[in-house]
Amino acid sequence: MALVQWNEAKYSVHEERIDTQHETLFELINRLHDSMKEGRSKESIPPTLEALAAYTKQHFGYEEGYMKRVGYPNLEQHRAQHQEFVHTVESFISDYNSGKVGLTFQIINYLKDWLVSHILKTDKQYDEFVAQK
Ligand SMILES: [Fe+2]
Ligand SMILES: [Fe+2]
Repeated sequence: MALVQWNEAKYSVHEERIDTQHETLFELINRLHDSMKEGRSKESIPPTLEALAAYTKQHFGYEEGYMKRVGYPNLEQHRAQHQEFVHTVESFISDYNSGKVGLTFQIINYLKDWLVSHILKTDKQYDEFVAQK
């Protein structure tokens, strides 16, 4: 079973491209989780981790551009959360690549929980702002 299931009613921020990007991020996290479960760690984890980091950055860039376009006032605080997460993921990847740490279910759950709570608590705020404009 997938670790995290996309649900339009629950997660949508009413911007089609962003919703699609969030859904893709869920898929990447599920792929990591499946790799761990199936013990295919060595081959499939590094490329999935890289893909997750790259896609996360691409998504954050698009989302920040969107918030700017709609004149969202809390862009800077939102951007700071993105930067902190990118930093966490990148330092994990470098520790993973150097053999200092391994990937665990705890880490995958952390990534999933961060993403879910960021969408629900932080991304939803620009959705509300746009809806009230
Ligand atoms: Fe965000
Ligand atoms: Fe987002």
